[in-house]
Amino acid sequence: MRINLLCIGDVVGRPGRYVLSQTLTNLIAQHEIHCVICNAENIAAGSGLTPQLYDKLLRYGVNLITLGDHVYRKMDIIPVLEKADNIVRPANYPPTSPGRNVAIYQTRLGPRVAVVSIVGRLYMRPQADCPYRTADEVLRQVPSDVRIVVIDMHAEATSEKVAMGWHLDGRVSLVFGTHTHVQTADETILPDGTAYITDLGMTGPYRSILGRRKDRVLKHFMTNLPAPFDVATGDPRLCGIVVGVDDQTGRAVEIKRICVAGTDLEDMESFDSNEGQ
Ligand SMILES: [Fe+2]
Ligand SMILES: [Fe+2]
Repeated sequence: MRINLLCIGDVVGRPGRYVLSQTLTNLIAQHEIHCVICNAENIAAGSGLTPQLYDKLLRYGVNLITLGDHVYRKMDIIPVLEKADNIVRPANYPPTSPGRNVAIYQTRLGPRVAVVSIVGRLYMRPQADCPYRTADEVLRQVPSDVRIVVIDMHAEATSEKVAMGWHLDGRVSLVFGTHTHVQTADETILPDGTAYITDLGMTGPYRSILGRRKDRVLKHFMTNLPAPFDVATGDPRLCGIVVGVDDQTGRAVEIKRICVAGTDLEDMESFDSNEGQ
């Protein structure tokens, strides 16, 4: 049987939540999705995740949540990371870091989907262990009857992400990249059956610099003066991929990119206003 996964790239602030609330139900129906995986590291005012927004993501229809280098930016998410079974922290963080390495979701058709988050080391904070050895170790922690395994490789350097695709080809169903917020056009199924893309793209405001106000980022780049990188608002879109996986073999059978625009921009000012930017 074919299981369809929808993987959604870094959701940025209120515009990201807004477009998610508008489009997710339709996307699930349109693509006959059985499991929704969402990177939420930028969902709370551009950095981190709160317990309130965690609940909201589940209400929208998200099943599994990954984060990234902003995992602990909002500290009140830590009890959720310690208790909930549908959210992961980067597996190559120190063993004492709060959160789990593997999250598993049982689809309504029966097959289970496991997700793992791993961060890169190039141009990132230096505390993370080797992504590739970590992947080998964490795969041993996934129950053997879970055949659909997904890796979120959260990294700045494309080389580290491409390398993870080849490292895990034939051993997982899908490796997707996040963190860089620009969707890449290299989606493919590698020779031994692992679907791969270097970056899912951002779910947030595209009239921006990676989700932040362009005037603020440009001012900082051009003067070196500190400037608050507030979340932008214009042109909210949801970006990600839809991947079909054979539940018996765990091999991918299809990968396609999606990027859908939100509508009714004027409503966004009042949307979710109690949750901050
Ligand atoms: Fe991000
Ligand atoms: Fe990140």
